[in-house]
Formats: sequence, structure tokens, C-alpha cells
Amino acid sequence: MATVTAEETLVREIRPHGPKRAGPCAMVIFGITGDLSKRLLLPALYNLASHGLLSKRFALVGFALSDISEDQLRERLAGDLIQACGRDSNREMINWLTSHLRFISADFESPSGWQRLRSVLQDVDRDQGLGGNYLFYLATAPNFFLPLVKRLAAERLLDDSGGGWRRVIIEKPFGQDLYSARALNCELLTVIRDDQIYRIDHYLGKETVQNIMVFRFANGIFEPIWNRRYIDHIQITVAESVGVERRGRYYDQTGALRDMIPNHLAQLLALTAMEPPASFSSAALQNEQVKALEAVPPINPDECSDCVVRGQYTAGKVGETVVAGYREEPFVDPNSQTETYVALKMAIDNWRWAGVPFYLRTGKRLKKRNTHIVVQFRNAPLALFRRSGATAPRPNLLVLGIQPEENICLEFEGKVPGPVIETTTVHMDFDYREFFGVGNRTGYETLLYDAMIGDSTLFKRADMIEAGWAVIQPILDAWAAGRGGALHPYAAGTEGPVSAADMIRRDGRAWRRL
Ligand code: BG6
Repeated sequence: MATVTAEETLVREIRPHGPKRAGPCAMVIFGITGDLSKRLLLPALYNLASHGLLSKRFALVGFALSDISEDQLRERLAGDLIQACGRDSNREMINWLTSHLRFISADFESPSGWQRLRSVLQDVDRDQGLGGNYLFYLATAPNFFLPLVKRLAAERLLDDSGGGWRRVIIEKPFGQDLYSARALNCELLTVIRDDQIYRIDHYLGKETVQNIMVFRFANGIFEPIWNRRYIDHIQITVAESVGVERRGRYYDQTGALRDMIPNHLAQLLALTAMEPPASFSSAALQNEQVKALEAVPPINPDECSDCVVRGQYTAGKVGETVVAGYREEPFVDPNSQTETYVALKMAIDNWRWAGVPFYLRTGKRLKKRNTHIVVQFRNAPLALFRRSGATAPRPNLLVLGIQPEENICLEFEGKVPGPVIETTTVHMDFDYREFFGVGNRTGYETLLYDAMIGDSTLFKRADMIEAGWAVIQPILDAWAAGRGGALHPYAAGTEGPVSAADMIRRDGRAWRRL
């Protein structure tokens, strides 16, 4: 009899269904002509189809206001996919996918557009035997989320009493602050059941993010030292080298704090800090993540400028490329006070983490793209080797590389060969891609697949979204009251504002270099 490793058991518990083709369905993308569909959703569907995970009975229906025809959109999306997949693209698969596309070019409020959507869905459902299973993806600006869900309900497209399932994936940003997120959650529930809502945070689709959980809870050796007795502090960094690109209109109203912290960084924080769940059920996992976020004490407005740093990029050079400053970007106010960088220090007030600072930072136009979590352990109790003339040992670090390096690295001290005792830092590395040989993924594959099979484990519950916002609400309040401290400029292509380095240096620590 084949033996089952602990890891296999865990994977089976997380994915009891195994990698099986999803059932038939129609996926309707609102905003199909936008950037998200082009860069991420279509490539993810292509990858799913290539791995035999998309049903052969599948229809893709796009809804967006555009002057291109259905055929032109097919051609455009095929071209985008060929470009995204490079030389290895499977043209047959691309043709198969785009030939399953139907397109409704209409305003989201147009009655004739909705009438057409209903009739297209009826046709594809009947022709392909989709069983009434519809997945609606809101890849739109956030102001459309609620009106679209209300309209779907009014059109009876969310009614699953006929036997098929009806689900809605909602993109971020889910609200603009804690209060609007709560209001959105409440209003949605007046027209749709909670189990039909899939709130997406694409970080949860990343293998290396899911692996934080597996690393912590499928191994016996790390959990005993994963606490205040052994850990000095934790750093979570999401650094980007890109600027705001063409998203200035959205970004200038949003800023780095709202854009990244309550969702992506809060997600990384929750997975790093959560208690072991009693099981790998969706409810148990999410309960523990919410508890971790709820243990973050509100930042005191009087201390806000000491523990939160905001910055904005000025012109500079990223690699060899000369780039404009934020205020020169398209659709950005030339006097904008919006932050493109934020660093903060926070605590988690529970038995595991009391006294351990968590430092978070994220920014655009930094030196390079680099997302990682650093767990810095306490120093050895005695600097034994210093007495024999060697340099003082550096603290042990465990670095979880999320992207683009997908690795786990343990840094510890070792002896330099030779007659005298001299120590140096050495590395033990695990490389995700090298080991598993995985190809290109967007991170959306797992999430779309899970939504199709009705597994919401990797989606966010309403309370989790609200817990993320609650972490930053005191900062938003302090900033709104003019108590946030200055906006610090940093040149594009650098490590960020000097004041962020000062903030952590005041505690006798330093950021890991990007
Ligand atoms: C999005 C933000 O949610 O995440 C963007 O709105 C950001 O501003 C992006 O660039 C980062 O995602 P990733 O997967 O590239 O780290």
C-alpha cells in the first residue's frame, strides 16, 4: 500500500477534491476590455484549460462598453494571450478559449445590454449544457460593485433555486475605509447570500503565500520557536519597481496605505501570525486569521508620526531606466499629497506576540520588485566567539521569499575554514521553482478554479476584510486630522524614504535590503 506523507495529507485536506476538472459553467466578466482581464484573468483561464482543469462545457461572456465587435475582441484577446504566453503558447487552446467568448458591448445600466446578457446566457446554457451555473466576475471600478450585484439580483441572475449555482467574485478595493467596507458588506447581503460572494485578494492565489501556512503547520520544528521567546521582530515587505502606470486616477484617490495594507500585507501578516487552526476547513482557517488581525492594537494618533512613515517618489532611475516622479505621472494631481510608500510599525497583543514588533512597508518605484517576510530571531544568549577575536554573530534570519524570488532561506552563522575561529553568515536555501519546476502562473488560476468548484477557503470573509481595514483606520483618521507627519520624498529606484530607515533604526534594527 502506498504511504501518504504528512504533506500529502495536508494538501488533501486543503483540496479534498484533488486536481479534477471543474464542472460546466459560464463565466461573465464585467469589464472584460480592461487591464485585469488582459493581464491576469484570460491568461489564468488559458492556464486552467491547458492543465485540463477547465470544463469542456464552458462559456466566457464579456460585458463592457466598447466600440469593438465580438470578433475584434476575440482577436485582440488571442493576440494578448499569445504575447503573454510567449513562444510556448498553444494556439489551439487559445482558439478554443476565444471561440467560447460572447461579447455584450453596453453600458452597465443599459436595459438592452442586460436583456442581451440574459439571452446570451440562455443560449450558451442550452447549447452547451451548463446546468445554470454562472460565475460573475466584477473586474470593474469599485463604484460599480454594488450597482452590478443589485442589478444581477433584480434580473434574477443570482437566483439558484433552479439547481445551478450562482456566484459573484468581487475585486478589491472592497470599500475605502472600515465604515464603507462595512456598509458595502451590509448592502450586498440585502440582495445576495454571503456564500455566493467571493471577495478576492489575489495574494491568496500565490503559491508562496499559501505555502506560509504549509511551512508553519506541516513541520514540527518551526512552530515551537514561532513566538515572542525566540523571535525578535518580523518584517513584511512588498516592494514594487513599477510606478502607478496608467492608474493615476484611481491611485491618486487611494494611496499606498489603502491600496496595499488592509488587503495584501494584512493577509501576509495574518498568515504569519495566526494560531494553528483546529482543522483546515475554510471556517477554522479564516477564524484564526481574523483573530490575529483583531489582536493588532489601534495605533495611537499621537504616536502616528513615530510609527508610520509615508513617502512619495520623485524622478529617478530604476535600473537603467530614467523614470518620472509621481506628480508627473498621467492623471495625477501635480500637487498631489498622496503617498506611494508607507512603512509602519505595529504590535499584535496576544500571548504569542506580545512585545514583538511587526514592521510593514510597501511602495512603488523602489529599487526592485521584492516581496518577502523576514523573521529575525533573538541573538544567541552569549557572544562566545567574540572573545576569541571573531566578529559578533549576526542574528539568525528566516526569509520567506514571496516574489519574484520564490524561496525560503535560513541564514545562520558558520565557521570560516582555518586555524582560528572566525564566523560568517551562511545560507540554507529552498527554491520553489527549482524544486517543483512550476511554470508561469498568474495566481488567479487557483482562485478562479476554486470559485468554480465552490471552495471559498482562499477568499475573504466579510469580517476578514473589515479586520484588515480596522488595522489602518486609526492611521486614516490621524492623517485626515492632519496628524500624520510629513510626506517624505524618495527618489525612484531607491530603498524608499530615509525616514523609514530612521523609524526602524530608532529601535536598533534595520530593514533587509531590497
Ligand atoms: C494590486 C494593487 O492590488 O496589487 C496594485 O492595486 C499593485 O497597485 C498590485 O501593483 C501588486 O500585485 P502583485 O501581485 O504584482 O504583487
